[in-house]
Amino acid sequence: MTELPLPRDLPEVEDTGLSNPAPQRPIGEMIAERLSRRGALAGAAALLLPEMAAAQAPAPRAHDVGNAPDAGPSSLGFTELRHRYSQRDTVAEGHEIQTLIRWGDPLFNDSPAFDPLKQTAATQAKQFGYNCDYIAVMPPFVPGSAQGQLQADRVVMWVNHEYTNTNLMFPGLGSGAQARARITREQTEIEVMAHGGSVVEVRRQNGRWSYVKGARLNRRITGETPMRISGPAAGNARMKTAADPNGTLVHGMFNNCAGGFTPWGTVLTCEENFNFIFGGDAAETSDQAAAYRRYGIVKAPPYAWWRHLERFNLDKHPNEPNRFGWVVEIDPYDPTSTPVKRTALGRFKHEGCNHVLAKDGRVVLYSGDDERNEFIYRFVTARPWDANDRAKNKDLLDEGTLSVAVFAADGSLRWLPLVLGEGPLTAENNFHSQGDVVIEARRAATLLGATPMDRPEDIEVNPVNGKVYVVLTNNSSRTADTVNAANPRARNLHGHILELTPTGDDHAAETGRWGIFLAAGKPGVDAGTQYHRATSTDGWLSCPDNVAFDSKGRMWIATDGAPTAAGIADGLYAADTAGMGRALTKLFYQAPAGAEVCGPVLTHDDKTLFLAIQHPGEERGGTFDTPSTRWPDFSPTMPPRPSVIAIVKKDGGIIGS
Ligand code: FEO
Ligand code: CA
Ligand code: CA
Ligand code: CA
Repeated sequence: MTELPLPRDLPEVEDTGLSNPAPQRPIGEMIAERLSRRGALAGAAALLLPEMAAAQAPAPRAHDVGNAPDAGPSSLGFTELRHRYSQRDTVAEGHEIQTLIRWGDPLFNDSPAFDPLKQTAATQAKQFGYNCDYIAVMPPFVPGSAQGQLQADRVVMWVNHEYTNTNLMFPGLGSGAQARARITREQTEIEVMAHGGSVVEVRRQNGRWSYVKGARLNRRITGETPMRISGPAAGNARMKTAADPNGTLVHGMFNNCAGGFTPWGTVLTCEENFNFIFGGDAAETSDQAAAYRRYGIVKAPPYAWWRHLERFNLDKHPNEPNRFGWVVEIDPYDPTSTPVKRTALGRFKHEGCNHVLAKDGRVVLYSGDDERNEFIYRFVTARPWDANDRAKNKDLLDEGTLSVAVFAADGSLRWLPLVLGEGPLTAENNFHSQGDVVIEARRAATLLGATPMDRPEDIEVNPVNGKVYVVLTNNSSRTADTVNAANPRARNLHGHILELTPTGDDHAAETGRWGIFLAAGKPGVDAGTQYHRATSTDGWLSCPDNVAFDSKGRMWIATDGAPTAAGIADGLYAADTAGMGRALTKLFYQAPAGAEVCGPVLTHDDKTLFLAIQHPGEERGGTFDTPSTRWPDFSPTMPPRPSVIAIVKKDGGIIGS
């Protein structure tokens, strides 16, 4: 999502959302630096390739649509778009956009058709949810089974539904904060059901992608779906509520932003900005007030749910927020399965959770905490996964080591374990169990000296070169006094992407190296940008968020927070990660007004690209009745509808070629 719900409507909230406001230079970083043999002289710039170093003195070239598709040094042959801002979306020439599934589309044979004037919680529970985000594309049958192979024309799709735009979902409420204040209890219940995720089977027939209504695996997960709590926080005193005296069962998941999947074919979906749905005086008076504050929980949040639905009221249920902010594992192949909150992976505002295998077969998961000055985490399972026995992986994610990253100025990187009893994680600091450590992972990581980052979004491993790419979207609160080598720009409005190389190419290694892959913003205008020198006046980007890799290891970068005032929409950019075109970003897709681009993922043949187009029409003053766009239906009776789209090449070829 955007930094806060509807930030353009809520400038006053933007600054109160900062829960780690005064990042000190972390002690871990200083120690790592002192221990370094190379010393602090070799800064991040020394790690740049020669052409990227040259890019610091940018010479942008003009580039018009309709030019010969001269990709220059890029391996991506498409003619890039021009930056613009429009009610409609646009894709590079030679490609086609197909709307796959929209907010409200019926998933089951008994689902009512979508009527935005007649929504109820019950209808919404049987329809595709709001604000689609992460997309996982999986085989139509359980991976590893006889039929469980990736297919180009038939997939099981998982989609997150991150949050709700009250002003765009319901008529007559007005805009932004006004709409959220006026929402009724019934409408709140609809919003609860519009959260969560969807499993939906999708197919391509005669060149067109569509979803299969009533398919066997279709499922809605909502804010009410019962979920098991497992791992070290299960049963912890701070996880117990009146409704769940054992602290092991919770209803629903909220604000699921990005995610990942496992080698055994489950989805990992990640709770992010859950703090905005809880409120009450206890935010300031409870003995948990400091912990609430660190997670951005305030007395009067932007959403009024806590006034209508008791369980979001901190005064009545002070432990309820501790049950959110987790990674949830869901088996999409069993519609009756109970989702599981895997607490061993820590509680924070998870963006995503992507896996790679360590050399010994243990599963390594990377996850960023998307908030200004928060951290980057890694979880390594205690045991390798078993490719021959799916059931044996069932609770693999309950045991392992959660660590947090420290970036040193010499380009080295160290992972520090969040383990009870190690370093400062002791009873003296009120950590009495590993459950306490994971519930307050942010505080534990600060005590360990983790490096405060510029809002970590996606972290993904490039399947071709094995390097880890860490997307840092922006950090308006970074000051000259709090810059560090891996976050080198004060008031970083445009973000950057780091490239990590684990020691010995083993993702379970305790150390690694890091460098800057690109630093976003407008070359020649914004300070400190780093791109390939041939990046065009339309190829630069702002606020990278989620990334995907195609089978050639090229990076597809979705943005969230483009400078709309300058007439630039969010979009999807593509770049080589190696060779002469490294870090040469090109604009491939431009989102409709108000929308961000989420969930980029390609089918394994690189011939279909799925995107989740989130919050179309989310602009200051926008309402259900007078939105800035009615994408994708453009019907006078339909509000804008967050939707998943499929992009294919008209000639059936490789996307971006
Ligand atoms: Fe929901 Fe980190 O964006
Ligand atoms: Ca989002
Ligand atoms: Ca974002
Ligand atoms: Ca995101």
